[in-house]
Amino acid sequence: MVVAADQIRSLNRYEKTILLALEREMKRYSWVPLEQLKVATKLSESEINYRLSRLIGWGMVRFNPVPYDGYALVFGGYDTLALTTLTRKGTISAFGTLIGEGKESVVYDALGLGPVAIKFHRIGQRSFNSVRLNREYMPGEGHCPWLIASKKSAEREYLALKILHPAVSVPLPIDQNRHTVVMSLINGQNLNRCRLDEPGDVLDEILDNLQKAFGAGLIHADLSEYNILIEDGKCVIIDWPQWVETTHPNAQTILERDIDNILVYFWRKYRVTYDRTDAIRCVTG
Ligand SMILES: Nc1ncnc2c1ncn2[C@@H]1O[C@H](COP(=O)(O)OP(=O)(O)O)[C@@H](O)[C@H]1O
Ligand SMILES: [Mg+2]
Repeated sequence: MVVAADQIRSLNRYEKTILLALEREMKRYSWVPLEQLKVATKLSESEINYRLSRLIGWGMVRFNPVPYDGYALVFGGYDTLALTTLTRKGTISAFGTLIGEGKESVVYDALGLGPVAIKFHRIGQRSFNSVRLNREYMPGEGHCPWLIASKKSAEREYLALKILHPAVSVPLPIDQNRHTVVMSLINGQNLNRCRLDEPGDVLDEILDNLQKAFGAGLIHADLSEYNILIEDGKCVIIDWPQWVETTHPNAQTILERDIDNILVYFWRKYRVTYDRTDAIRCVTG
């Protein structure tokens, strides 16, 4: 769960110092020794212990006594650091409520210059190894795979949105920090929850957007009715962290899988037919 906004507001500067120190030290330790934390923060032991107990209570830090007293940053703490930075930069001024939860993220609405969505990437929350990952997400070494992978995933998604917007109908990328992406809030429903009046037109529009993305060198690679939002009858394609380049050795297979997912969905739900070869030709130009 993402940390509540009032806890961020009441975060003491020593608590922030500790979170930042943990973030840095976790490049070297899975569990940062108390002694190391003392050196890194220059705080007294009693101050650190008091601050740590609060951070643990808020679900930002975890403690492990074996084989030595060690502390680790967890998603709650990483969320807090990102939100603190985004607030300081003025990207967001008020934090809202949960609007979406996927396999690998939680999404909140918030207020920035206008209404925005903040996506917190959550790669490897439970069992890191069971998560489908690009090899490049995997650090050669390092002790905190979830932190690195979640940050890489957010950076990758932000890059895709930067490349694609506005030529392709995707959310406007606004900012990115750590494992988060801030983008425009789409006022709509996931395609799987819609009952479309003109499904054929929407399918054409989706293929047209895939073609534009392909022209920009990108294939979505995780496309389905869950990753398309319908706003005022128009499609917006979301959830881009897994994109691959059109020069990828498996590009053709990956693209065909994306297209098949969509064609099958429109056939099953609306009985709209679209020749598969034509669809592929339409997207690849
Ligand atoms: N920009 C946005 N505006 C509105 N809702 C969004 C936005 N981005 C994501 N969502 C909601 O959050 C859900 C999860 O986001 P998504 O990017 O698909 O992540 P995941 O990889 O976890 O599936 C989406 O299905 C959608 O309902
Ligand atoms: Mg999704």
